Amino acid sequence: MKIDKNTILKFDRPGPRYTSYPTAPEWSKQINAQTYQEKLKQFGKTNKTLSLYVHIPFCESLCYFCGCTMNVRKNENRYGDEYIDHLETEIDLIAHHIKRKPIVRQLHWGGGTPSFFSEEQMTRLFKKIAKNFTIDTTGEIAIEVDPRRVTKHKVETLRKLGFNRISIGLQDFDEIVQKHVNRIQPFSMVREFNNWCREVKFASINFDLIYGMPYQTQKSFAATVKDVISLHPDRIALYSFAYVPWLKKHQNKLHENKLPSTDEKLEIFLDSRDAFLQNGYDAIAMDHFALKDDELSKAFQQGTLHRNFMGYTVKPADEYIGLGNSAIGYLEKAFFQNYKTIPEYYRFLKQNEFPVERGKELSKDDDMRQWVIKSLLCQFVIDKKNFTKHFSEDFDKYFHHEQNHIQKCNTDDLIQVHDDKIIVTDLGKIFIRNICMGFDWYLRQQNSHQKFSKTV
Ligand SMILES: C[S@@+](CC[C@H](N)C(=O)[O-])C[C@H]1O[C@@H](n2cnc3c(N)ncnc32)[C@H](O)[C@@H]1O
Ligand code: SF4
Repeated sequence: MKIDKNTILKFDRPGPRYTSYPTAPEWSKQINAQTYQEKLKQFGKTNKTLSLYVHIPFCESLCYFCGCTMNVRKNENRYGDEYIDHLETEIDLIAHHIKRKPIVRQLHWGGGTPSFFSEEQMTRLFKKIAKNFTIDTTGEIAIEVDPRRVTKHKVETLRKLGFNRISIGLQDFDEIVQKHVNRIQPFSMVREFNNWCREVKFASINFDLIYGMPYQTQKSFAATVKDVISLHPDRIALYSFAYVPWLKKHQNKLHENKLPSTDEKLEIFLDSRDAFLQNGYDAIAMDHFALKDDELSKAFQQGTLHRNFMGYTVKPADEYIGLGNSAIGYLEKAFFQNYKTIPEYYRFLKQNEFPVERGKELSKDDDMRQWVIKSLLCQFVIDKKNFTKHFSEDFDKYFHHEQNHIQKCNTDDLIQVHDDKIIVTDLGKIFIRNICMGFDWYLRQQNSHQKFSKTV
């Protein structure tokens, strides 16, 4: 499907990515370690499965564009050891409250840069997790890796440990861009790294790209995309550059006057999208692409996709636990987030307390809207009868305030409205966040204090 610039401009406005509903700005300190303990105990009494996220915040050098929760550290073992000591305490505390070894359907190590850890440290942490949780080896066991600092041996170790999916921070191959953003990573290095990953047979290799950074042009990024396609990754995440120098001070090091204009940024996105579609990839919602035979593409086509904080997945679990600073979990209809800074995260664990900073317990209305938003994001449909079955409410009556939004989306060709179903069109799949926004109660409130990046 071709999308033109005007269509994008029409829908390009700030909005949440809906990795959660209610979104993180609505969470508060009312939800604390005490609530978390209760929910863990409650979860322990069920036989529900888990997604487990582990945040590893360290990076050896700073990429000036970075928007992640990370800390730059020289790669000395002591930083990794100290952090794993605290992760182990957190795991022990969790195990103490749930009193069983839940099945983990999805394990994701993100960052920062998880590959910052030495092989010994990775092995130590993986074993600790495997001792306290039952890792489903057919599940998604994924890790984010910075190709600049990984040896072939480390890749082999990751695979032996049980990781079956790997995600590479690639961003851009252009030398000028790389130099300017302080991330030198030549094509030959990534090609070699990609070969190692293939040799050890990762089930899926993902590349992260960012468009909209300084010095990027339509021409330069087209060359990056061509090189990416030549390496044939199974999945590609094409992120719109979030330029937030007021939040991430180091982004002030970037030459603002070299940022591509909004028009050029859009062209870069459209060119890249076309190139991926013409070369065997499916567009999975706005910013993800996957080879047609990748299970993500199949799930997207069959409407069996799922989504959580870790992105789209084909292996849904019932609940989520996050480990590490800033990590997020969702248990028994409540969100939890750990303290963001490492000293705060350590401080609580040293006293054998959960380092939970904030969260949100879902109201009935939150739960209903979460159901609708999830259904839109993953199945691209709202089945009204199913909604009634779940919540004993008539969909159209309950969402009478949303009828204008539904009509507008219908007129804009984002959805088709039927008596018992709302079906998202191909265009709507691309702008799915815009459809979801109309069901977000908090966005409608005048005092909404949220600030989001644009959808493109
Ligand atoms: C948490 S990072 C982990 C990857 C790893 N640290 C690396 O860079 O190789 C995940 C991805 O977030 C994306 N990212 C980081 N900062 C961003 C920003 N300001 N705007 C958009 N995407 C960003 C990058 O594509 C990066 O690969
Ligand atoms: S992009 Fe990745 S490697 Fe670079 S600073 Fe951010 S988290 Fe670290």
